[in-house]
Order: sequence, then structure tokens, then C-alpha cells
Amino acid sequence: MITNCIEKIALYENSFYVYEESVIRKQIEKLKNSFEGIDFLYSVKCNPNTNVLDIIFGSGFGADAASLNEVKMSYEHGVDKSKIYYSAPGKSERDIFEALDYSIIIADSLNEIRKISSVAGNKIVNIGIRINPDFTLENEQGIANKFGIDEKDVIEIIHNGLPENIRISGIHVHVKSQVLEQDKLRDNYGRIISLAERIEKELGYGLDFINMGSGIGVAYSLNDCEIDVERLGNEAMTMLANFRKSHLNTKLFIETGRFVVCKSGTYITHVVDKKNSYGKTFVILQNTLNGFIRPSMVRMVASYAGEGCTKSCEPMYTSFDSFTIKPVRASNEFETVTMVGNLCTGADVIAENISMPKMEIGDLVEINNAGAYSYVLSPMQFSSQGIIKEFVVTEEGEIL
Ligand SMILES: Cc1ncc(COP(=O)(O)O)c(C=O)c1O
Repeated sequence: MITNCIEKIALYENSFYVYEESVIRKQIEKLKNSFEGIDFLYSVKCNPNTNVLDIIFGSGFGADAASLNEVKMSYEHGVDKSKIYYSAPGKSERDIFEALDYSIIIADSLNEIRKISSVAGNKIVNIGIRINPDFTLENEQGIANKFGIDEKDVIEIIHNGLPENIRISGIHVHVKSQVLEQDKLRDNYGRIISLAERIEKELGYGLDFINMGSGIGVAYSLNDCEIDVERLGNEAMTMLANFRKSHLNTKLFIETGRFVVCKSGTYITHVVDKKNSYGKTFVILQNTLNGFIRPSMVRMVASYAGEGCTKSCEPMYTSFDSFTIKPVRASNEFETVTMVGNLCTGADVIAENISMPKMEIGDLVEINNAGAYSYVLSPMQFSSQGIIKEFVVTEEGEIL
């Protein structure tokens, strides 16, 4: 079905994204079934396509909004204010002023707490605090971080007294994205809950919410081992059972972006030219760096940072095998080619000297793992090639 839809769209569009509703729904169900009692927030930044938001918010997810625009977008897609959490460093007074009506603001620094207090005037405001904890995924020790307030400083802020119109109603802790080791994630949830208990003790009352951040990764490469979400969920919920019994009114959140949408997305482009130079065959595709930046980004990161660093670049997962590229209808004949894009820069390279099914001008080509951090990160203004369109294929095969 998806190939037919792609070919239909390709009659009108040169390059485009396709997101499959069925894949998004499958991922959502996996999470919901595995983590009974947890509420989920969708990290809008990874894919804010309007039809994608409708599917995800329609299934009951709240919003992890990283900007005022994402707050408003979520609200306009029907998410209640009580389920929109605005967490980002460096919010302006204007951001705060407008967001107060549509979201729960997560303060990212002491200055931000003061700013929220001053903007709120004589209104009492419930806020969350993003905490930079005294641990990482790997260690029982904190690290310097631009995100959040160091754990010891949060305790001090509470001791010294918060502004009168500010009430801390929840905490947000996110230590790492794209984690495929479920034991580390489970232990991380445990540490966050212990931290929440320490904060509650200091505050002298129970928290309304604990946002345990994101972290659930996806298998980008064929060598990656997909996370066993069911096992992770079961183990985490068993570990948190006592806490939950004593905190019936505390909401526990997990935020997630790429797990829900990454695999739903495919980027489609086509061969615009093919040539030979000094014995090398070049296949030239349309709108690659500008339409789907990851392949070029992988090469740029590798050339500056060395290949050892290519996996850690958040949020653009930059390993060489973080996507696969192939013709939509593959020939049985193979040839070694270098695949490049049609931008006037040498950086627009997708893959060098790889064996591919033989391609001709006009052939459609698909790149997978393109549902998250793909459209939004690609520099579509560059070279004025035009904005690339996105389509959702519904479970019924309708193209939105
Ligand atoms: C604070 C925070 N929450 C959520 C996410 C979403 O992560 P993912 O898309 O891997 O689920 C990120 C990613 O950068 C993040 O920084």
C-alpha cells in the first residue's frame, strides 16, 4: 500500500516525506500497554506535522513543548493546558507571559523562577522545575549542564524560600535521549523517583507530577538492538509500585518523540542525473542535504570529530548506518556508485562508493528512519530549492 501511495504522490512532487499512521499508532500502543499508569508527553520538536500531532494528541498524549510556538500548537490541537509542559532553557518574559495561559511552565534556572514570579504579578503560579540531577545514566555523579538547575541548588532555593506567588508542583529530569539499554533506563527512573522523594521532603508536600524525561531509543542501524519496551515497562512499573501506592495523586510522565515517529517516516526523492568522472559513477539526487540533512550531517560530524564520536550527537543521530537508502522499485542488477545531491556544495553527499541496485534518471529513491528530527532539521531555505512537502498515509490508505 505504501509503495502505491508513494508513487501516486510522486506524480506531483519531486521530493517529499511520508509518515505512516499505522506505524505511529503501533508505537503508541506499545508504550501504553507496557507502562500502565504512566502518562506520556509527545516531544513536539521532533516532528510537529499537523496531521502527526492530530494522531498523537488524539490518542491521549500530552505535550512536551520546547518553545512558545509548540505550546500554542499543542493547545490548538486540542491538548488541555494541564497536559502541556513547556520546558526549555532561556525563556523570554514574553514567552512566559503568553505561555502562562496555555501551559505549565518548567523553570530552567533560578532567574527563570524570578522571571515567572515577576510576570505573574499577584497570581499564584504552579510551576515545574527542571533539575540537573546528581547523577547521569552511567554515574552517581552530576555533570555541568546548560539544562535545568543543579540538584543542590534546588534544595537551597527551597530552603531560602521561593517567591510568594510560586509553588513548585512538579519536577522534570531528562538525562539522555536515544538509549537502547533498558536496564539503564529502568535504573534511571528509579533514581528520578528517589530524587522526587528528596524534593518532596524539602518542600513538605507531595508533587503533582514527576516527568522522568525521554530516553527510549530506536534501532536506527541494523546492528542496533531494539529496546524491549514491554520488559522495560514491566520492570519499571514493578520497581515503582510502592511509590505509586503512596502517591495516588502524583502523575508520572515519560516524554518521547523519536520512539513514536522515527520509524513512521520515509523521505522520497528521485534520480535527476547520472554521470561518470575519472571512472567513478555519480548518481545525482534531488533535495538531499536541503531536504533530509542526516547523511550530510553524518559525514560532516565524522570529518570534524572523528568516527568515534558519530553516535552521540543529540538529537540528530549521526552514525553512518542511521538510515538506509534504496530505490523504491529495485533492479536486480547492482553497480558501485557515489550518491550525491543537486546542491552547489561538496557537502551534499549521501554515500560514497556503495553497491546499489542500478538506477536510472527518474527512478524514485527512499530513505528510512525519517520520521523524527528530519524535516525539522533540514535547511530547506538553503539554495532556495523550495520547501518540501509532508504527507501522512492513514491506516485506510488515504493520503493527507
Ligand atoms: C528534554 C528533552 N525531552 C525530550 C526529548 C525527546 O527525545 P526523543 O525524541 O529521543 O524521545 C529531548 C530530546 O532532545 C529532550 O532534550
